[in-house]
Amino acid sequence: MVVAKSWTMVQHFQGAPKPEDFKLVEKKLPPLQAGGNSPRFHVAPYSRRTMKEGDVMIGSQVARIIESKNSAFPLGGYYLGNLGWTTHSISNGKDLRPLLPEWPESLPRSLALGCVGMPGLTAYFGFLEICNPKPGEVVLINCAAGAVGSVVGQIAKIKGCKVVGAAGSDDKVKYLKEIGFDVAFNYKTVSSLDEALKKASPEGYDCYFENVGGKFFDATLPQMKDFGRISVCGAISVYNEDDVLPSGPCVQPAFIFKQLRMEGFLVHRWTDRFAEGQKQLLQWLLEGKVKYHEHVTKGFENMPAGFMGMLKGDNIGKAIIQV
Ligand SMILES: NC(=O)c1ccc[n+]([C@@H]2O[C@H](COP(=O)([O-])OP(=O)(O)OC[C@H]3O[C@@H](n4cnc5c(N)ncnc54)[C@H](OP(=O)(O)O)[C@@H]3O)[C@@H](O)[C@H]2O)c1
Repeated sequence: MVVAKSWTMVQHFQGAPKPEDFKLVEKKLPPLQAGGNSPRFHVAPYSRRTMKEGDVMIGSQVARIIESKNSAFPLGGYYLGNLGWTTHSISNGKDLRPLLPEWPESLPRSLALGCVGMPGLTAYFGFLEICNPKPGEVVLINCAAGAVGSVVGQIAKIKGCKVVGAAGSDDKVKYLKEIGFDVAFNYKTVSSLDEALKKASPEGYDCYFENVGGKFFDATLPQMKDFGRISVCGAISVYNEDDVLPSGPCVQPAFIFKQLRMEGFLVHRWTDRFAEGQKQLLQWLLEGKVKYHEHVTKGFENMPAGFMGMLKGDNIGKAIIQV
């Protein structure tokens, strides 16, 4: 008999998630039709806002079939599933997606949760479709050393842009320079965000890939160039604000006189094109044009710590839990 361990949310997060907000529960699984164990999980900012009390924490995993009564899901096969923070699941297969058949031996399967998975696809479609970058343009990215931002910056370089990234530690800044960002700065230690943005690109920004919101957005808006495009992917600086969101400056004049465009998106908009994005990202990885870094937390029991650490900024690249 298989015992599944799951992390549930005890109470809705008040401010930043705390260890006592999570509870580890065990459940005996009945004899199964098809099942899998889960060597790799991811933790992502969206898990922070969309949970309710008593739920198993949401999240994707690369799962391996360890027992099967369905020949379409052979033993040992690897699948991607939104199965939550749980070690073992029974599935009829509808919620499982096979990894790309051409998955190369040289790349870890966990990239299906990062560069070649949801974060990579978010970068690929959210940047290319909304910012429509042209060679020579200047692109600004915040959360730049994270799962999404690090891929956006590298795609922008592939497209011939000048790339500026902001991240929250000197190690992250160093990493951004290693993967090809033209300019990177630590937004936590600069004396003035306005000045840091001006120094990084005195002529301003054509494209802004927004992951943070709040004060970062307020500082960037006046520095957008005419006809600039802003792709709103996330607003992590306000995810811990429970009820009252901070107010900002009046944005309309900048949008009118600079003729700016801003568009929010959810990556699922492009679900029917995911295979195209994954193939392209895989190819860029194999060509060395996109590099990856995984921030691995070992042990299922450490999932809440890995999640809280990611929200605090511990991770360079994709935050992964390995069990
Ligand atoms: N629209 C979509 O479909 C979609 C899909 C996936 C992700 N997203 C969004 O994309 C953004 C990045 O996600 P990700 O998975 O790539 O996460 P990530 O960047 O790998 O990890 C989160 C990072 O956020 C930064 N951060 C945390 N609190 C912050 C704050 N108060 N102000 C500024 N930065 C803060 C930290 O980096 P620093 O050390 O640099 O502060 C941390 O490492 C998130 O906003 C997420 O919600 C949207």
